[in-house]
Amino acid sequence: MYVNGRITPAAEAVVPVFDHGFLYGEGVYETLRTYRREPFLFGPHMDRLRRSAGLMALDVPFTDAQMSGWMTDTMAAHDRLMGVLPEAYIRILLTRGVGALTYNPAACPTPTVVIIVKTFPAPPDRTFTEGIAVALVDVRRNHPDALNPTIKSNNLLNNALAMQEALRHHADEALMQNHDGHIVECSQSNFFIVSGGRLRTAPLADGLLPGITRQFVIELARDTGVATDEASFGPEEVYRADEAFITGTTREVTPVVRVGTRVIGTGAPGTVTRRLLEAFRRRVGASAPYS
Ligand SMILES: Cc1ncc(COP(=O)(O)O)c(C=O)c1O
Repeated sequence: MYVNGRITPAAEAVVPVFDHGFLYGEGVYETLRTYRREPFLFGPHMDRLRRSAGLMALDVPFTDAQMSGWMTDTMAAHDRLMGVLPEAYIRILLTRGVGALTYNPAACPTPTVVIIVKTFPAPPDRTFTEGIAVALVDVRRNHPDALNPTIKSNNLLNNALAMQEALRHHADEALMQNHDGHIVECSQSNFFIVSGGRLRTAPLADGLLPGITRQFVIELARDTGVATDEASFGPEEVYRADEAFITGTTREVTPVVRVGTRVIGTGAPGTVTRRLLEAFRRRVGASAPYS
């Protein structure tokens, strides 16, 4: 683990209790994963980190090249201490830093930089071959005028409460609506439906995280001749959809076959979803789970 320039085993990687990331959830983060030990879509992740930080007036005290070097060093240290990583899960955190108990950013002159590296926890193959169930939860996504969901912030209570509700329903993800009842995204992933051979996903203006995988999949779909409408939709369109899937750094393209008690399409991963996952895996040089 990396904390402000020190690379140590996890147990020794600590942040002071007066860090405003701990006190107020005041910070931003990015989750990356490697393919063939190379961080995937590093540039877009760094761009989003800078944008998130900018929206909370937080300085990013490093260049992309510096961060890339620190990530490499942290992975190498993990290899030495814990055995060679197959693929890595990498979480970059940047917080306001340590300061007095006040919301005044001037109290915290030095941001805290943390890099968590651990073995990538690959989702079970059956989540790709059989699909997952999501629950449409009562917890609404943060209103953009209250806490802008385009900021990937360490303040994840909205997401955590939504996921707690989904877990009570034995679902793998929490599907969330915004204040207008539009479907926006899940607690840790973006959400797509497929109807009549076209993809549909919520527009960013509805209030959701601009997922790096969401954008990658929109471009992948376009390259394979599938159009995407970024247009609002509600639960009824989801129930009537031919297919549905989630996207995210750790979930790639994961088919959704049930929303609550409602079966989507045939109840098995759909053809467009499967084609997209196959194209995704080809792009990253990994094998597809379908034979
Ligand atoms: C709320 C939310 N939406 C979507 C995503 C997916 O984003 P990405 O594809 O950049 O991993 C995440 C990832 O953590 C998330 O937390």
